Amino acid sequence: MKFFLDSANVEEITRVMSWGVVAGVTTNPSLVAREGKEFMPLLKQICSIVPGPVSAEVLSEGADDMVAEARELAAVADNVVVKIPLTADGLAATRELSAQGIKTNLTLAFSPVQAMLAARSGATYASLFIGRLDDVGACGLSAVAETVRNFQAYAVGTRVIAASIRNVGHVEGAMSAGADYATVPFRVLSDCLHHPLTDQGIEKFKADWEKAMK
Ligand code: G3P
Repeated sequence: MKFFLDSANVEEITRVMSWGVVAGVTTNPSLVAREGKEFMPLLKQICSIVPGPVSAEVLSEGADDMVAEARELAAVADNVVVKIPLTADGLAATRELSAQGIKTNLTLAFSPVQAMLAARSGATYASLFIGRLDDVGACGLSAVAETVRNFQAYAVGTRVIAASIRNVGHVEGAMSAGADYATVPFRVLSDCLHHPLTDQGIEKFKADWEKAMK
């Protein structure tokens, strides 16, 4: 499984990219709004920091408007992936964008069949929202696992992104489910990296070494 950072915060993105293990970044309108900055310059800045895919979402609702907005976003940088909401207009827009060679990330998917519709529209990625499914008493990880099985069974090229990740368990569950990517908030990615026993082990090694080398 590969990792995306789910963030529009330049400091978080810069810090995580220095780790050398994250393939790209996903943003959404809420994450961008949180930064209080103008969108297009922020997107350009993020794309200059991140060598891999950077997902940026359209706000338009009609297919033609989505296509026009998507083309503007794609023109910002070569590594922009356009996020399109999973609606009828979103599917139509994605079909057109796919024909134009613009990469797309079909977002706000909450079921395996929505994900399959995304795949049939030519989407590059489909984002299944684990946390929000759990919030309503469903099992987000099951939706991811079933989508992965379906895509393998039908040799679908669209890659599965486990999204709406709230904790390390979601990341580990996404790996077990066979997701191609997990897009992870900075706090959760830090929790994935840090384990108290690792820190304790480092301290003990140092203490034993210093004691022996006295
Ligand atoms: O950015 C897409 C997705 O990961 C956001 O999910 O539920 O944290 O808003 P959520």
